[in-house]
Amino acid sequence: MRYEVVGIVGCGLMGSGIAQVCAQAGCQTYVSDVDERAIAAGLERIRQSLLKGVEKGKLDPQDVEATQARLIGTTKLDDFSKCDLVVEAVVENMTVKRKIFEDLDSIVGPHAVLASNTSSLCITELATTTTRPERFVGLHFFSPVPLMKLVEVVRGLSTSDETFMAVFNFVSQLGKEPVTASDRPGFIANRLLIPYLLDAVRAYESGLGTVEDIDKTMTLGCGHPMGPFTLLDFIGIDTTYYIAGIMYEEFGDRIYAAPPLLKRMVLAGRLGRKSGEGFYKY
Ligand code: CAA
Repeated sequence: MRYEVVGIVGCGLMGSGIAQVCAQAGCQTYVSDVDERAIAAGLERIRQSLLKGVEKGKLDPQDVEATQARLIGTTKLDDFSKCDLVVEAVVENMTVKRKIFEDLDSIVGPHAVLASNTSSLCITELATTTTRPERFVGLHFFSPVPLMKLVEVVRGLSTSDETFMAVFNFVSQLGKEPVTASDRPGFIANRLLIPYLLDAVRAYESGLGTVEDIDKTMTLGCGHPMGPFTLLDFIGIDTTYYIAGIMYEEFGDRIYAAPPLLKRMVLAGRLGRKSGEGFYKY
């Protein structure tokens, strides 16, 4: 099944990236946020990303206009009534997400598929907030969405084969590589990535090396595109902290316990690139 009209809830870093790739793939794309300012910022982020694509020779200039014409910003979830697929990409908080899915369930048509871009929350639990758990999946994109090729497609216990295959194929139509992940906290990527990032913070706290030297070691010594602290600032210190908390709660293993410094950085508002300061200043 081809999803012609899609909706993205949340126009932040992830939501705007997902909206961009859907619109680039030819879908009419509704994207919502809480106020006009957030929508304007998200749409501007998309415009800048498309223009950079032109500058890098990856996009034709006319694609910028055509993609923008397929994007509709809104503050009202009711505008999602015609969507075949809705992807939620809001803050990593079960209560907030549950409320959104309860609302969406009564807005979209009975054929529509609902998906969450959660990094770590339980897909089977989110599905129970709707009357369509068989048409509910996890669809986990990576940041920066327009550049990162992978999408984890997460099957909840109730997800039907038909829904799973349709969404899996849709990911390919977006020009991305889908992988199948089971409904475990962190799925595949964060199951491996989060302990590594937390361990880097613990190593720094214990005096192993400076932030700069640890990053340099992992980029120049191990070939990673970003060192752990650059990546932490990029993902967001708060986002990493929330994901770690969810994984620690479910697994009860200390490898997922947030180091004290991470919590204090969140409290101090040092959230990484988005706040202008994290492990580095921007
Ligand atoms: N549109 C289209 N293409 C673009 C573009 C744009 N706006 N901007 C850049 N590109 C292209 C470039 O042309 C280049 O293509 P080629 O390789 O064909 O030359 C490629 O993208 C890389 O671009 P740059 O050379 O400008 O940038 P870079 O080499 O510094 O790479 C990066 C940037 C891809 C972000 C790289 O630093 C990277 O991979 N970082 C790691 C990111 C990562 O780990 N993300 C996952 C985070 S975890 C997550 O998201 C999940 C979670 O739940 C926490």
